[in-house]
Amino acid sequence: SRTAEPFLPDDPESRLDLGALRSAADGCRGCDLYRDATRTVFGEGSPGARAVLVGEQPGDREDREGAPFVGPAGRLLDRALAEAGIERGDVYVTNAVKHFKFKHQEGGGRRRIHEPPNAGEMRACRPWLLAELRILEPDVVVVLGATAGRALLGSSFRVTRLRGRLLACPDLEELGTPAAGKELSDAPPEGPGARLLATIHPSAVLRAEDRGGAYRGLVEDLGIAARALR
Ligand code: URA
Ligand code: SF4
Repeated sequence: SRTAEPFLPDDPESRLDLGALRSAADGCRGCDLYRDATRTVFGEGSPGARAVLVGEQPGDREDREGAPFVGPAGRLLDRALAEAGIERGDVYVTNAVKHFKFKHQEGGGRRRIHEPPNAGEMRACRPWLLAELRILEPDVVVVLGATAGRALLGSSFRVTRLRGRLLACPDLEELGTPAAGKELSDAPPEGPGARLLATIHPSAVLRAEDRGGAYRGLVEDLGIAARALR
C-alpha cells in the first residue's frame, strides 16, 4: 500500500529535526492527494509545545495559506483554547493528513468542498504525524474528531465514547496499530508517560444544530487537557 515513508529524511538526525521534516514533506507523493491540492500543510507551533493537537486535514483556507487551522474551524479552535486556559505557545497543531482533499461543486462551480480522507490516505500519511510526535514528545495529545482518532487509535475509535477523559497515551510504536485502541483503559492514567484527550472536531461544532452546546462541550474537554498541563 502507499506510504509517505520513502519521503521522510533518510538520516536519523534529520528525522528528529522539525524543519528538515517539514521541508521533506513539501515533496511528499506518498498518496494521490498531492496532485490536486496546492501544497503540503505541515504542523505548526512552538517546538517546546507540551500539547499536540491533531486535526483531520487542511481545509480550503489552510490549503491556500499553507498553515493548519487558519480558517473558520481554526478561529473557533483558538477561541476554545483561550477559554479553556491553554496558551497558544503551549500548543503545536497538526493534522492526520497533510494535503487538502476536496471535490468541486456539482455543475462545475469553483467552490472546493472538503471530502474526508479514506483509510488508505490516513495510513499513507501517518509517518509524518508519528515523526512529529516523536520529536515533540508532548505531555498531552489532543485528538480532534474521528479522523485523527482513527489515524492514531484504529478504526474502532469513537469520539462519543472516549471524549473528555484523560487517557494514557499508547506508546509511539503502538500508535496507528490495532493495538493502540486496545491500550486505552478507562482507569485514570497514573505515573509517567503522555496523556491523550479526545474531543469533537471544531468543524463539527460549526455544523452542529446546537452550536452553543457543542462549543461548550469542546471547551470543557479542552479544560481537562489544560488541567493535565498544569
Ligand atoms: N480542519 C482540520 O482538521 N484541520 C485544519 O487544519 C483545518 C480544518
Ligand atoms: Fe504525502 Fe500525506 Fe500528502 Fe499523501 S496526504 S501526499 S501521504 S503528505
